[in-house]
Amino acid sequence: MIRETWNEALHVIVSDASEARRWIAGLEERERARTALSSLRVRFNRVFGYGIEVSHAQSARVPEDYVRRQTLTGTERYVTPELKDYEAKVLGAEERRRRLEQELFEDVRGRVAAHSAALLATARALALLDVVAGLAEVAHVRGHVRPVVDSGDTLEIVEGRHPVLEARSGEPVTPNDVALDADARIVILTGPNMAGKSVYLRQTGHIVLLAQMGAWVPARSARIGVIDRVFTRVGAQDNLARGQSTFLVEMVEAASILNNVTPRSLVLLDEVGRGTSTFDGLAIAWAVVEDLHDRAVGAKVLFATHFHELTQLAARLPAVRNFHVAVREWNDEIVFLHKVRPGGTDRSYGIQVARLAGLPLPVIARAKALLARFEDQRQATAEAADAVQLGLFTAPAAPDPVVAELAALDPAHLTPIEALNLLVKWQQALKR
Ligand SMILES: Nc1ncnc2c1ncn2[C@@H]1O[C@H](COP(=O)(O)OP(=O)(O)OP(=O)(O)O)[C@@H](O)[C@H]1O
Ligand SMILES: [Mg+2]
Repeated sequence: MIRETWNEALHVIVSDASEARRWIAGLEERERARTALSSLRVRFNRVFGYGIEVSHAQSARVPEDYVRRQTLTGTERYVTPELKDYEAKVLGAEERRRRLEQELFEDVRGRVAAHSAALLATARALALLDVVAGLAEVAHVRGHVRPVVDSGDTLEIVEGRHPVLEARSGEPVTPNDVALDADARIVILTGPNMAGKSVYLRQTGHIVLLAQMGAWVPARSARIGVIDRVFTRVGAQDNLARGQSTFLVEMVEAASILNNVTPRSLVLLDEVGRGTSTFDGLAIAWAVVEDLHDRAVGAKVLFATHFHELTQLAARLPAVRNFHVAVREWNDEIVFLHKVRPGGTDRSYGIQVARLAGLPLPVIARAKALLARFEDQRQATAEAADAVQLGLFTAPAAPDPVVAELAALDPAHLTPIEALNLLVKWQQALKR
């Protein structure tokens, strides 16, 4: 625990013990040379300690300083005063060392504790210096800028970049703008898989956090009206141990956001409503956006989604805007531009991305055929629905026979009994 040269007494214990061990190790050879007794051995016994053993036959020739201790079968056992001295230094050395080290440790601990206030203040100062110097270095090396943080309600980032993506990738990343204010504060972000929606959401969160902790930010410029909380709902996780399925976790998080959001919050929703049936998911996502628009007035929201129907919300809710991440189609391939632009998209290119990911070609081909069929069906369903609606309003159904008979009747030529009979007949017809 403690370096032996740090304390004189500790040093003596450790060096004496090792010297004694060395001395004992050489004893047998030295004593044999001195006595010329071929049977002489140095042995250790846990009860009696170290001893010099000599056969009965040679025991008459042991030197004067040998003191006999035991008679064993075949041998006599001796010690010398010197051997006893050295033995004492070896045996118990470990125990003495441990005890002394504990004492020394407690002493040091006491001395440190006496200065704890000064030491903690120094540690805190160094930690702060470390953080600030770290942020300054990153700002310098990565070309970050000083953001304006004010109490306005504008969130404006010009050419923002994702700080981690940028630090990790060898090539420059594509910068993107964010402009949210009281008039336009909810963005529905569509665009193909792999286009860069999640990156855009997260870099916005990073930049807001960095700005508010006093750091510079990866952007050309940034104005950040103080945000009280950043809410995120990202990715698909479950929490099986706590009895929460994937979709339940998603909804628990969404619920917590809607229940806690304030007019000064930033809400980043990455694909809400994905873990259930398409219509349930779309319905939930739609209602969530409406709630954020109508109730959480002021909150800034970036909502990435593959529910392209949500782009219709921009026409209904005044503070909602559509943006998409652009790609370029080239033959049957797509080229990712990673550029966020105004307006929505209506395609996800999921099958192209699945092919990039290595899904087997027969599966890709089959998926394409199915997609074409599903899209035809949807088209047909839409047309059928239109036809039904048209039918309802333009071509009234044939009149009921009862009504027809009533319309053709001339009441002036009916006797009361005939009228009563007709009434009974019609009522029976209607009951059938
Ligand atoms: N601005 C950017 N500059 C450079 N590369 C980017 C940029 N945005 C995204 N990328 C690259 O594209 C990858 C996919 O981006 P991201 O995960 O944001 O896609 P997504 O639109 O969320 O896709 P999905 O709908 O499948 O979730 C990133 O891992 C990153 O490598
Ligand atoms: Mg994503």
